Amino acid sequence: MGKVLERVESCAGDIRQRTDFVPRAALVLGSGLGAFAEKIKPAAQVDYSEIAGFPVSTVPGHKGRFVFGYVEDTPVAVMQGRVHYYEGYSMEDVVLPIRVLGALGVKELFLTNAAGGISPELASGSLMLLTDQITTFVPSPLIGPNEEGLGARFPDMSEVYSKRLRALAKEAARKKGIDLKEGVYVQCTGPNYETPAEIQMFKALGAGAVGMSTACEAMAARHMGLEVCGISCVTNLAAGLSDKKLDHKEVQEIADRVSGEFQGLLWELLSSLPK
Ligand code: HPA
Repeated sequence: MGKVLERVESCAGDIRQRTDFVPRAALVLGSGLGAFAEKIKPAAQVDYSEIAGFPVSTVPGHKGRFVFGYVEDTPVAVMQGRVHYYEGYSMEDVVLPIRVLGALGVKELFLTNAAGGISPELASGSLMLLTDQITTFVPSPLIGPNEEGLGARFPDMSEVYSKRLRALAKEAARKKGIDLKEGVYVQCTGPNYETPAEIQMFKALGAGAVGMSTACEAMAARHMGLEVCGISCVTNLAAGLSDKKLDHKEVQEIADRVSGEFQGLLWELLSSLPK
């Protein structure tokens, strides 16, 4: 067993010592969505600080814990808080929680985030279902010795975001009367927002929205064979697409404003997973 898998197993072991709950799906909560974790029927909770070697977020407003429980009768693990590459963690650290979720038995991973809208149809406050991603601008989390126990050396990435889960997400949005847009997500390292020239480049490349998380997590999850679904909350027009300067406070305000609708969609989606 390599070093990475040893770490994954050790973290999973620390969690299993606290709960024998087996989640079928996992949800990573982005900005503004923290309250979702309080809605589920709780079975257990484990603070990241209780897990030896687990990365802990340095971003204000990001709690750090797993909440295990039920969305209707779907057993889920919810991550309240994630770490980002811009915090100074290695990509191995950034995707460790995803690998631990896989080791705990998760089969379907739901990733959420706040993002800047590039596509003209993405007004501030809209929700975008991820159809694909561009990770070329961040280091791959799979660089280094391959862990055969996790996945293949050269994993296929032709369907990062599962068609099946996308269909379920669209159906959940239809039921809730939500206008769910679709597009490609591009991950940047952050922590700075992008320049207008970078946004024009991403637009030419076909990206719909830009953010600082998610794509590396989706890649590590696909490496392990998890099925992935991603949804962005567009909190602002990306740099240069409006007169406004970009500001983290405004990103948080919009994320909070859309939170109710976003949580409703996620609840419907997780409870609709076929048994
Ligand atoms: N760029 C990158 N990340 C973001 C943005 C943005 O405009 N908005 C929210 N997260």
